[in-house]
Amino acid sequence: MAKFMAVWGVVMVAVVVWSAAMAAAGNFNEEFDITWGEGRGKILEKGQLLTLTLDRTSGSGFQSKHEYLYGKIDMQLRLVPGNSAGTVTAYYLSSQGAAHDEIDFEFLGNVTGEPYTLHTNVFTQGQGNREMQFRLWFDPTKDFHTYSILWNPKHIIFMVDDMPIRDFRNLEGKGIAFPKNQPMRLYSSLWNADDWATQGGRVKTDWSHAPFSASYRAFRADACVVAAGGRTRCGASVGTDAAPGSGAAAAAAWYNQELDLTRQQRMRWVQSKYMIYNYCTDPKRFPQGLPAECSM
Ligand SMILES: *[C@@H]1O[C@H](CO)[C@@H](O)[C@H](O)[C@H]1NC(C)=O
Repeated sequence: MAKFMAVWGVVMVAVVVWSAAMAAAGNFNEEFDITWGEGRGKILEKGQLLTLTLDRTSGSGFQSKHEYLYGKIDMQLRLVPGNSAGTVTAYYLSSQGAAHDEIDFEFLGNVTGEPYTLHTNVFTQGQGNREMQFRLWFDPTKDFHTYSILWNPKHIIFMVDDMPIRDFRNLEGKGIAFPKNQPMRLYSSLWNADDWATQGGRVKTDWSHAPFSASYRAFRADACVVAAGGRTRCGASVGTDAAPGSGAAAAAAWYNQELDLTRQQRMRWVQSKYMIYNYCTDPKRFPQGLPAECSM
């Protein structure tokens, strides 16, 4: 009997810890609305997995229920496998309106065996034209990988599996707008862009491979979340992969985070090896001169 009780005690403790972890972990139903695609976007596995699909009739997409004003947003994505030419998986933060701010990841598919293009951009006050494109150092269709946006008052840092690939600095002091007043939602969509996406639009979507599908899991936002009435609450860690009991300490970490020297060097190394386009080195596009931040 005593032995039985002891074993039961262990089971009880395990159950309590597990349920606490589940409560902290949250699920996709709490964080996102599937906003288009008539059933082509799905939340599965008790809210721990989200999938988007694209077929000849329609793509699909979702958006966060919350709006964020600064945050570190992590998500694991697995992109459309096989012949994904013509498909685009967009994953971005954006505010509303003509003078909106936006922080973009876009994944441009390719024919089987050829590499995806990871496209990034930053819009401030409605103005973009800040494209930087990369190859990835792994096959993004085989496994899930973490794509992160760190947006704090000083930086917008794009990261892939925690490796910084791009740092858009706050240069307001030099007259360059920086996103800081307009809350943004997180959006993602899978759609057909075969008029331009793959090899400049020369390769079309092969619908015999449809439906195309991309998957999402392990969402985490350590962010300032806009609450009812427009006030923001910083420090909450939410999502399917939220840090339990994080809060003030985690918030302070991302809010002030910058790249130290080592991480800056790593970023430069990644850029030198994997960057395939940089608006700052494309003067033909800017007859009036390169954007001011390019020389800073
Ligand atoms: C697809 O593969 C071709 C050939 O390797 C490459 O030039 C192109 O940049 C790749 N990506 C896209 C999106 O076209």
